Amino acid sequence: MWAVTVDEPGSPATLGWNEVPDPEPGLGEVVIDVAAAGVNRADLLQASGHYPPPPGASTTLGLECSGTISAVGDGVTEWPTGEPVCALLAGGGYAEKVVVPAAQVMPVPAGVDLVDAAGLPEVACTVWSNLVLTAGLRSGQTVLIHGGSSGIGTMAIQVAKALGATVAVTASRPEALAACRELGADITINYRDEDFVEALQQATDGRGADVILDVVGAKYLARNVAALADGGRLVVIGMQGGTTAELDIGALLRKRAGVIGTALRSRPVTGPGSKGEVVTAVVEHLWPLIAAGRVRPVIDRVIEMSDAGQGHRRLAEGGHLGKVLLRAPGGEQFS
Ligand SMILES: NC(=O)c1ccc[n+]([C@@H]2O[C@H](COP(=O)([O-])OP(=O)(O)OC[C@H]3O[C@@H](n4cnc5c(N)ncnc54)[C@H](OP(=O)(O)O)[C@@H]3O)[C@@H](O)[C@H]2O)c1
Repeated sequence: MWAVTVDEPGSPATLGWNEVPDPEPGLGEVVIDVAAAGVNRADLLQASGHYPPPPGASTTLGLECSGTISAVGDGVTEWPTGEPVCALLAGGGYAEKVVVPAAQVMPVPAGVDLVDAAGLPEVACTVWSNLVLTAGLRSGQTVLIHGGSSGIGTMAIQVAKALGATVAVTASRPEALAACRELGADITINYRDEDFVEALQQATDGRGADVILDVVGAKYLARNVAALADGGRLVVIGMQGGTTAELDIGALLRKRAGVIGTALRSRPVTGPGSKGEVVTAVVEHLWPLIAAGRVRPVIDRVIEMSDAGQGHRRLAEGGHLGKVLLRAPGGEQFS
């Protein structure tokens, strides 16, 4: 099969399109003939040599894909060959074929075409696991989502609105904030022009956010804690602003607040807190919201997989809204 290869690691990395051995399904695994793969910021980090795949995972880039099942390993009874699916991967999606544990495979939600479905697994699983399973976001609460126009942000806005929350977002460009409003955001803050803590306090009568979904990390830690309401939960999922910062424990105690960090890729396949558990919850609770038209995949653009470097440049330069997808050869028949 053909796959994207990192010919020269770096930032930007030089990506190639080369022939590599076909993957074989092991016990409990399936092979998917890939229609498309989603581009994630983590892929850019991995290509630059800073985010190695977990032990045992494919070294090929790609944390999510859609396609059809072409082979099943021993012990797999739930997925027949020929089934259109999408899947959360620990790696390997930037290729014509990928092998994945059956527990990480999902049906394509009703009303979504197979190529667009490639943009769902990573954002759906990240958003549902953090906003709902970890932070317990409920109707009537306020959530602050940093990077509202990102792949993660565009899904988080819609899920939070569907849950009945008031949604605040940050972004750097007026047109990105306008797009967030169209997706349902109630409070939009340009983080370049405004202090997001002040803007949020003003918009919430000084109450702050019950939940914050943060992709910045160290640079925002103190201000995120300042923006939390009493009893609030800050969930950090990204480190674009560094990994080390001071935390005023007193501020946390006074607010009875929590700071939590999570990563999806390193979760085990099955068991408590696993990828399988998240996938099951997403299919049960989030897929019906998509089928009902209350949540939709937001796709910035679809690029041919053999030109994956262009997809990486699009994310690196910013200005995208939602997901960038890489279409595998033959994937055009599905969209
Ligand atoms: N822990 C996990 O399990 C997990 C899983 C998936 C993704 N993530 C993380 O989630 C983040 C988004 O991923 P993605 O693939 O959706 O990437 P993406 O589309 O490239 O989005 C990056 C976003 O970060 C925003 N941003 C950068 N600096 C910011 C700042 N100072 N204040 C507010 N927003 C800022 C950008 O906003 P502007 O363009 O407006 O500047 C952009 O919307 C990444 O950091 C990624 O590593 C974590």
